[in-house]
Amino acid sequence: ENFRARKEEHIFVTSVVSCCPAELKQEVNGKKETLRGFNIKLQDTILFPEGGGQPDDRGLIGEVPVLRVKRQGPDALHFVASALEEGQEVRLKVDWDRRFDHMQQHSGQHLITALADKMFGYKTTSWELGHQRSTIELDTPSVTPAQLQELEEAVNEKIRAHLPVSVQLLSVDDPALEKVRSRGLPEDHAGPVRIVSIVGIDDNMCCGTHVSNLSHLQVIKLLGTEKGKKNKTNLIFLAGNRVLKYAETSYNTERSLVSLLKTGPDEHVEAVDRLQKSVKLLQKTNLSLLRDLAVLIAQNFKNDPQKGNFFSLHKKEGDNEFMNIIANEINTEETLVFLTVGEEKGPGLFLLAGPILFVLTRVLELLQGKGAGKNGRFQGKANSMARRGEVEALLRRRCQHGISQEE
Ligand SMILES: *[C@@H]1O[C@H](CO)[C@@H](O)[C@H](O)[C@H]1NC(C)=O
Ligand SMILES: *[C@@H]1O[C@H](CO)[C@@H](O)[C@H](O)[C@H]1NC(C)=O
Ligand SMILES: *[C@@H]1O[C@H](CO)[C@@H](O)[C@H](O)[C@H]1NC(C)=O
Ligand SMILES: [Zn+2]
Repeated sequence: ENFRARKEEHIFVTSVVSCCPAELKQEVNGKKETLRGFNIKLQDTILFPEGGGQPDDRGLIGEVPVLRVKRQGPDALHFVASALEEGQEVRLKVDWDRRFDHMQQHSGQHLITALADKMFGYKTTSWELGHQRSTIELDTPSVTPAQLQELEEAVNEKIRAHLPVSVQLLSVDDPALEKVRSRGLPEDHAGPVRIVSIVGIDDNMCCGTHVSNLSHLQVIKLLGTEKGKKNKTNLIFLAGNRVLKYAETSYNTERSLVSLLKTGPDEHVEAVDRLQKSVKLLQKTNLSLLRDLAVLIAQNFKNDPQKGNFFSLHKKEGDNEFMNIIANEINTEETLVFLTVGEEKGPGLFLLAGPILFVLTRVLELLQGKGAGKNGRFQGKANSMARRGEVEALLRRRCQHGISQEE
C-alpha cells in the first residue's frame, strides 16, 4: 500500500530502520545456491515486493544492489549482500525497465481477464508473469481461434481508447468491495484494501503496480492457447515492449533461417520438413550400406589365403550390428576377432570373439571397458580407444604363440 514511485527519476530518499543477517536461496543457471547477506527494512520504499502474481522489483539502496524484495506483513524486506547502518539516510532507486515491464504485463492481464469474462464468461483462475511471456489460466476447456482473435481486437481497442487506470484504497468493511474482482486477501493482510480500476471496465483487488493509462500498454499480442489443468485453458500473451522484443527476435531468427535454408519465410516449415525427411532416408541408406560393408569386409578376410588366425579392425563410424555381422561371417572358432568402432582416442564400442578370452581382463583394463559376453563373444563399451594399439599387439602375440596357451 505504501509503494509510491516518483516516476520522473525513480529515486526515493528514505532511511534504514533495521538490518538483519539473512540468507537468500536462489537458482543461477539451474544450480541452487544460498547467498548470505542482510534483510533491510526501510522507513518506506518504492520497491515492490513479490505478490499478486507479479515478481519483485530490483534496484539500489545507495550503491548496494537489492537482490530480492519480500513482503512480511505490512513491511518489505530488501535483501542485500552487504550490511547497512541503522538510521542511515539512503537513496533508493528502482530498476525502472524491469518495473515498467512488469506494470505493462500486469495491467495487460487485468484488461484481458476483464474482457475474457465480459465477452465469453471465461473466468481467470490464476496467472503467471513469466520471464518471456505471461499466462492467464481461464476456467474453460477451450478457446476457439475466432474468440482469441475477437479478444485480441477488443483489448487493443481499449488501449487505443486511452482509458485511465486508477487506484483506490477502501476499508476492509466497505460495501463497495462486493462488486470487486478478487481472489481473496492474504492471511497476513493489514490496513486498507487496494482496488485497481480500469475506468468503466474493471475493478480488481490488487497489490501490484500498474500503468496509469491503458495507452501505456502500447499493444497486446495474444500468442495462443495451451491446454491447462483439468478443463482449463492457458492463454499466452505479451504486452507492450515485449511485443517489440518478440518481433525483433522473431525477425532475427527468420533472417538466419532465410540464409540457412535459402528460402523465404513462407517456405521455412516446408523446407525443414523436406530436410528432416531426407536425413531420415540418408540414415536408412547409411545403415544399409554399413551392413553391406560388414559382409564384404568379412568375405574379403575369408578369401585371403594368408589370413592367419587373427582379425582386427577399427572403424570410426559403425555400430554394434556392424561388428556383429563381421563376427557372424567369420568362423570365430579358429579366428580371434577384435573389432572397435568410435573416435580414434575417445570412447567407443568393442567386440571380442574367438577361442581365447583368457586375456579379457587385460583387454578391459587397456580399453577402460565394460561389457558382457556369451558363447565366446564379448562386447561392450570402451571409455577410451587410446590404447587400442596395445590391445591389438597383445592379441596378435597371443595368436602367434598358439591360441590355446594359458595366460
Ligand atoms: C490517458 O492518455 C491520454 C493520451 O495521452 C490522455 O488524453 C488522457 O487524458 C489520459 N487519461 C488519464 C486519466 O490520464
Ligand atoms: C470437464 O468439463 C466437462 C464438460 O463440461 C465435464 O463433463 C467434466 O466432468 C469436466 N472434467 C473435470 C475433470 O472437471
Ligand atoms: C552411419 O551410421 C553409423 C552407425 O550408426 C554412424 O556411426 C555414422 O555416423 C552414420 N553416418 C552418417 C553419415 O550418418
Ligand atoms: Zn492484479
